[in-house]
Amino acid sequence: MAISAETIRQLHPYETRILHTLERLMGSHSWVPLDLIRKRAGFSESETLFRLGTLMEKGMVRYDVVPYEGYSLTFLGADTLALLSLSRQDTLSALGPLVGEGKESVVYEGLGLGRVAVKCHHVGQRSFQSVRLSREYIAEKTHCPWIFASRASAEREYEALKRLHPGARVPLPVGRNRNVIVMEFIEGTTLNRTRPADPAGVLAAILEQVAIAYSLGVIHADLSEFNVMLDRKGVVLIDWPQWVTPDHPNAGQILARDVENILRYFNRKFGIVADSTEEIARVTG
Ligand SMILES: Nc1ncnc2c1ncn2[C@@H]1O[C@H](COP(=O)(O)OP(=O)(O)OP(=O)(O)O)[C@@H](O)[C@H]1O
Ligand SMILES: [Mg+2]
Repeated sequence: MAISAETIRQLHPYETRILHTLERLMGSHSWVPLDLIRKRAGFSESETLFRLGTLMEKGMVRYDVVPYEGYSLTFLGADTLALLSLSRQDTLSALGPLVGEGKESVVYEGLGLGRVAVKCHHVGQRSFQSVRLSREYIAEKTHCPWIFASRASAEREYEALKRLHPGARVPLPVGRNRNVIVMEFIEGTTLNRTRPADPAGVLAAILEQVAIAYSLGVIHADLSEFNVMLDRKGVVLIDWPQWVTPDHPNAGQILARDVENILRYFNRKFGIVADSTEEIARVTG
């Protein structure tokens, strides 16, 4: 289920209050009992049940009896709270259609000071490693690891964009709240969906951006044809939550994998042959 500007606009203030209350209580509960929500929100039981019901219809709240009877926020509920905050600032004045949906994120088009991309990070139970935090660390921080992991993922991506822009061609970071980041909208297409007229030139431009990022202390760590966009001005590298620094213990291997992924793609698609050892050496300067 996706969020629309309409769903957010139509939220009743009592629904918003329930979402905020649930979010707060999820710091100490994975499933929050009805009675606690009711007390903290300051509503009667019937009012609380009614609002929880409409929030469940909207997919923002879940109810379960296993492992405990109680309510929990969903990714959609968490996204909604973040979007509400961002839209109270100037960062986001309108939310548009879905433009991408990956394993660990949902990306919308939006309007802020210009056209923006709104990326909601959804990092689930299986993928803690992708934000490079230990399970123990996350378990200590919260009863609800996915909320923490998704926020950490958004924070990491935002940090990378701030380090990289404008030295490297990446989207300009505009704002962040909770698990959601707002960035410049790239008017282009991902590499996997284009057939460039000058593939060798595009390959060189990608490797140049990888080298610039490296010199700014950032290794992408998930580079592929899906995370390179092409616009009128050239290549733009996107999707940075898993970046590492050049002093990471496996930095060498991670950088080599990034470069090899790209070289393999250009070899398979366009028959371009390049020496990966040489290209990696060029990237690290
Ligand atoms: N700044 C942007 N401007 C325009 N489109 C974007 C932008 N960022 C992302 N997109 C679109 O959204 C899609 C998904 O974005 P991204 O690659 O960042 O996340 P993802 O691949 O879903 O994440 P994950 O790797 O966790 O599955 C991209 O393929 C692209 O089409
Ligand atoms: Mg991607």
